[in-house]
Amino acid sequence: MTGNYLPDELAAELVEEARKTAENSYSPYSHFAVGAVVLTKDGQRFPGTNTENASYGLTICAERIALGGAVSAGHMDIRAVAVWTPTESASPCGACRQFIMEFGQDVVVVFQNEKKMIQKTIGELLPYGFTREAMQ
Ligand code: THU
Repeated sequence: MTGNYLPDELAAELVEEARKTAENSYSPYSHFAVGAVVLTKDGQRFPGTNTENASYGLTICAERIALGGAVSAGHMDIRAVAVWTPTESASPCGACRQFIMEFGQDVVVVFQNEKKMIQKTIGELLPYGFTREAMQ
């Protein structure tokens, strides 16, 4: 599904927006500030940052916050999710992969790995994943 990948320039722009969003991270426990930006199919962008909690387990990742923002504004039509983390090699956690999968196998995930920008569809990141079609 490489045909769904974003032009490099757009992907880099989204990662940069995700980096800026991470400046708002509430992560006093992990000190690991993550930012995400959701791109809808009609070109709108929704930011999210990780929001931690004193109970630890209630922490919500940046990707899920961003997706919730898009859904709250009426968008289920998600084209891509860009993620920025403070380390050179980090991609969305397993829970977030499952959460992204809800919006379709072809959603593109943009992240950095060893300083390179990577694009993968969520279907590639979560092969044989559980989808909403399985519920029908
Ligand atoms: N985190 C995210 O926001 N997204 C991920 O995909 C991985 C982890 C956050 C959760 C927690 O606040 C911190 O990073 C350390 O795990």
